[in-house]
Amino acid sequence: MDFNLTEQQKLMQKLFREVAQNEVKENAADVDENERFPKENVEVMRQAKMLGIPYSREYGGAGADYLCYIMAVEELSKTCATTGVVLSAHTSLGTWPIAQFGTEEQKKRFLPDLCTGKRLAAFGLTEPNAGTDAAGQQTTAVLDGDHYVLNGTKIFITNAGEAEVYIIFAMTDKSKGTRGISAFIVEKGTPGFTFGLHEKKLGIRGSATSELIFNNVRIPKENLLGKEGQGFKIAMQTLDGGRIGIAAQALGIAQGAIDEVIPYVKARKQFGRPIAKFQNTQFQLADMQTKVDAARWLVYSAAMAKEEGRPYTTLAAEAKLFAAEVAMEVTTKAIQLMGGYGYTRDLPVERMFRDAKITEIYEGTSEVQRMVISGAMLR
Ligand code: CAA
Repeated sequence: MDFNLTEQQKLMQKLFREVAQNEVKENAADVDENERFPKENVEVMRQAKMLGIPYSREYGGAGADYLCYIMAVEELSKTCATTGVVLSAHTSLGTWPIAQFGTEEQKKRFLPDLCTGKRLAAFGLTEPNAGTDAAGQQTTAVLDGDHYVLNGTKIFITNAGEAEVYIIFAMTDKSKGTRGISAFIVEKGTPGFTFGLHEKKLGIRGSATSELIFNNVRIPKENLLGKEGQGFKIAMQTLDGGRIGIAAQALGIAQGAIDEVIPYVKARKQFGRPIAKFQNTQFQLADMQTKVDAARWLVYSAAMAKEEGRPYTTLAAEAKLFAAEVAMEVTTKAIQLMGGYGYTRDLPVERMFRDAKITEIYEGTSEVQRMVISGAMLR
């Protein structure tokens, strides 16, 4: 497929592909099997300057565009979806709000370490009673002199514990509903900020997913991100970009599964010939690749719209909805084509199948994406 990529985009895509295939792929099974955070892959990404791809060189970023970053998540997720989400949560959920809404002082203070990968970032919105209904925030932030005092619990936070910088949402004025939510930059190590339950998951098992607990955590006033009451919009706009990242993760998982199936069906013989010679295999493969290519158009279109400053909320939701469902369908078919072998942990497709499921859930379930898309249609 030809997306008229620029020379820079082609070069970066080649670099990301090499990193994913030569360095990340080899430990993907181990990361999954042992449910361990892939620190070595973070180091590889740091050295390849992949942790600040779409951010200005002035702040230590690579100064590339959003599509380059999206291609990085895609390439990584072809081999290791855990590593894909580490990058996605860091770049589009943790770092972007500071780059977009931060004061010059906040950008200078936080972006260089985040963009060079010295520190990882994360995003804390979800709570036990505020999942799909993100507006139902119960974490509170009360102004006390020069500090805000945070109390509450966040759950299911990607990169929790591994990240050192967190974008945290809290209610500063309950009477104002979504307009009473504010965003804060909270650093690991701040007294009263601890990590709770570490989730054991079906897929992306190396990704750190934990609770964040705030017990009278005093945050300097200068760590308020944007204005008081702007937090919900910051969260929604951040998720618009994040969803393109998760769509790219789903796209990568699906293409990665096809890439595993092709050599298998050529080598595997039944009834005296490679199963690639059977029309069922050929038709399944054709359907799988067609859907993945359609997903890629949506995902890249959303990334380009964001880069070019065009509206992208709906496109991002469409890309995530479609790519996530394609990832489920394609990984299911991949296992079916590989039969009993595909079902074992000796081959990576069963891991890809488990990893695909989360893309229909986090950063807004498929139902939330349908709400966003139909909301725009009926407005
Ligand atoms: N951009 C800018 N503003 C937006 C917006 C957007 N995309 N979406 C909504 N808003 C604004 C609205 O314009 C409205 O503004 P006004 O007050 O000025 O009118 C305000 O926000 C409230 O909007 P809604 O009434 O539409 O809000 P809602 O409460 O009905 O919620 C929702 C809508 C789409 C369901 C939203 O709550 C949502 O996206 N929920 C899912 C949350 C989510 O994705 N969570 C994932 C967390 S991160 C994660 O998964 C973990 C991880 O680390 C990877």
